[in-house]
Amino acid sequence: GLPARVRIHEVGARDGLQNEKSTVPTEVKAEFVRRLADAGLTTIEATSFVHPKWVPQLADAEQLFPLVADLPGVHLPVLVPNERGLDRALALGVRRIAVFASATESFAKANLNRTVDEALAMFAPVVEKARAHGLHVRGYLSMCFGDPWEGAVPVHQVVRVCKALMDMGCDELSLGDTIGVATPGHVQSLLAELNEEGVPTSALGVHFHDTYGQALANTLAALQHGVTTVDASAGGLGGCPYAKSATGNLATEDLVWMLQGLGIDTGVDLGRLTATSVWMAGQLGRPSPSRTVKALSHQ
Ligand code: HMG
Ligand code: MG
Repeated sequence: GLPARVRIHEVGARDGLQNEKSTVPTEVKAEFVRRLADAGLTTIEATSFVHPKWVPQLADAEQLFPLVADLPGVHLPVLVPNERGLDRALALGVRRIAVFASATESFAKANLNRTVDEALAMFAPVVEKARAHGLHVRGYLSMCFGDPWEGAVPVHQVVRVCKALMDMGCDELSLGDTIGVATPGHVQSLLAELNEEGVPTSALGVHFHDTYGQALANTLAALQHGVTTVDASAGGLGGCPYAKSATGNLATEDLVWMLQGLGIDTGVDLGRLTATSVWMAGQLGRPSPSRTVKALSHQ
């Protein structure tokens, strides 16, 4: 069966904007986050406390976070790679963080300048300290299905890193199809193997990219398996600066359209959300790639 309710983890302001070439003004980002909240999204990833040279677009994290921190009833997780990042986040009163691991060596090197295990070793004290401060910790795992340098990624390789992140103390995981090559059978295989290895489905979220048009099919496969947390990006914004072939994330509007049709509650007002993505497209100077945004706004 399918769940009655799905929690959408909105990544547009972080994953969506991190790759943007032109500098998006901090006030525009804050307005984006506020509008997403107004559209009914309750988990809105705000920014990253990473090295500013690695992700220049999010170098204004210190300025942005206080502008949105007081939104009522909204969780505002941020990405944190190391203790330096955690300290920056703690200084601003952040309550939810995400570390971001890789299932493959190539991407760990490109994204974190570390091997897979060195990256895990970097995260361990971060997760421990975050939990000691009562923070909620998400563990992202990139390249769960395919990798631009290594090709198909074996399920057991993904499961190993998932277990390491759970053992470390992550509250939830997000399984990333960073380059969008997954298909529903592959999704079901990974989820089944994680189940078998004792990783609870309730702790799993899915993070699909729509490169091959499979993001919604993959999402449905995950929902059928019991997953109730789905990552999406308003208007389909984004990719990843350290994964060349990554195109847009699953658009939140496309996801909400499907879930509404299935009678699954998300709390999101699709009209307001679409208006937000149309407004953001205007700020960025190009139309949203989301089919649902196009259909509903007659772009
Ligand atoms: P490094 O060069 O190995 O850094 O980068 P280091 O640890 O050697 O430190 C070098 C200098 O950076 C030091 O300064 C540190 O203080 C400073 P120095 O002493 O030389 O003056 N530094 C920092 N400054 C500010 N904030 C920090 C920080 N850390 C170190 N947090 C590092 C290692 C992890 C820092 C770097 O690789 C990095 O920032 N990577 C982030 C990359 C990133 O954000 N990628 C995108 C997110 S992942 C993604 O998009 C995928 C996802 O969406 C899911 C999916 O789709 O699959 C999650
Ligand atoms: Mg992504």
